[in-house]
Amino acid sequence: MGVCRRHLLAAALLFLSTTAADPNDERCLNHLSESLSDPHNNLRNWTKSIFSNPCEGSISALQGATCNNGRIYKLSLSNLSLKGTISPYLSNCTNLQSLDLGSNSITGPIPPDLQYLVNLAVLNLSSNRLSGPIPEQLALCAYLNVIDLHGNLISGQIPQQLGLLVRLSVFDVSDNKLSGPIPGSLGNRSGNLVRFNVSSFEGNKKLYGYPLPPLKSKGLSIWVIVAIGVGSGFVSLVLSFTAVCIWLRITEKKLDEDEGKINQHMPDY
Ligand SMILES: *[C@@H]1O[C@H](CO)[C@@H](O)[C@H](O)[C@H]1NC(C)=O
Ligand SMILES: *[C@@H]1O[C@H](CO)[C@@H](O)[C@H](O)[C@H]1NC(C)=O
Ligand SMILES: *[C@@H]1O[C@H](CO)[C@@H](O)[C@H](O)[C@H]1NC(C)=O
Ligand SMILES: *[C@@H]1O[C@H](CO)[C@@H](O)[C@H](O)[C@H]1NC(C)=O
Ligand SMILES: *[C@@H]1O[C@H](CO)[C@@H](O)[C@H](O)[C@H]1NC(C)=O
Ligand SMILES: *[C@@H]1O[C@H](CO)[C@@H](O)[C@H](O)[C@H]1NC(C)=O
Repeated sequence: MGVCRRHLLAAALLFLSTTAADPNDERCLNHLSESLSDPHNNLRNWTKSIFSNPCEGSISALQGATCNNGRIYKLSLSNLSLKGTISPYLSNCTNLQSLDLGSNSITGPIPPDLQYLVNLAVLNLSSNRLSGPIPEQLALCAYLNVIDLHGNLISGQIPQQLGLLVRLSVFDVSDNKLSGPIPGSLGNRSGNLVRFNVSSFEGNKKLYGYPLPPLKSKGLSIWVIVAIGVGSGFVSLVLSFTAVCIWLRITEKKLDEDEGKINQHMPDY
């Protein structure tokens, strides 16, 4: 009797764990599919009925999704011509370890809510049209080891807090609109942390500091240009004024000499 009951219970638990949808994953997928747009219809079976039960063990019916223990664990939706924005509710997929939305045309900000993805190890949002700042809250995803944001329109400063991510082995923010100093905790890491070189930071006009050149060579140039402009304007004004004065004097002298009139002087310039 007891053994039988235990078997029944085990069977019921197995049944639940393989078929019962997680309400958080369902909410996450519903909101993500609403915020993204899929003009080429590449996410063919991303439908509400599948969101309510997206996992069969490690297999998912959803294109680009991988499951683990009945939860969404990986989303690889790169190069699918996706548009739209990243829903903050993506953070409801709390077991997500890898998010790859690279090489699409996604716009809008990187939601700070991604901080609730506490298991996230890979974040690849490269080659999109994302704008706004890099949320400093990403530093709360302690397992992050890949942050690839290259090729977007991301602006503002690189948050110093990202230096707290000790597992970070790939960090690429090249080709964006970032400005300000590169935090030493990322540009010049110490200890046995992986060091990032120029290729992680290049292609941001207003970003400076090691391993990029310091501020001086970039920030001063605009003042040098202004000074040269103002200075040369002033010099040419003085020169032409002087030239006019000299010319007037010469012609005056010539007139005096030619006509021999000593008593009709022009006023001096
Ligand atoms: C969902 O789409 C993928 C790729 O197009 C396909 O391999 C899979 O069989 C589809 N699953 C279902 C349940 O339709
Ligand atoms: C991206 O997709 C296009 C068309 O679907 C394909 O031609 C191209 O090779 C893909 N690029 C990569 C890097 O996978
Ligand atoms: C789902 O995500 C939203 C946006 O981040 C958040 O407000 C909400 O609390 C989350 N729900 C749960 C159950 O975590
Ligand atoms: C991020 O995704 C792009 C394609 O979308 C790929 O080329 C790149 O290698 C990925 N980055 C990392 C660090 O794997
Ligand atoms: C890098 O950090 C070390 C100390 O960890 C410091 O001595 C050095 O001057 C720094 N280099 C640059 C270029 O900031
Ligand atoms: C920067 O480091 C990467 C590996 O992290 C390497 O592939 C690349 O060649 C390096 N680039 C330069 C300019 O040193």
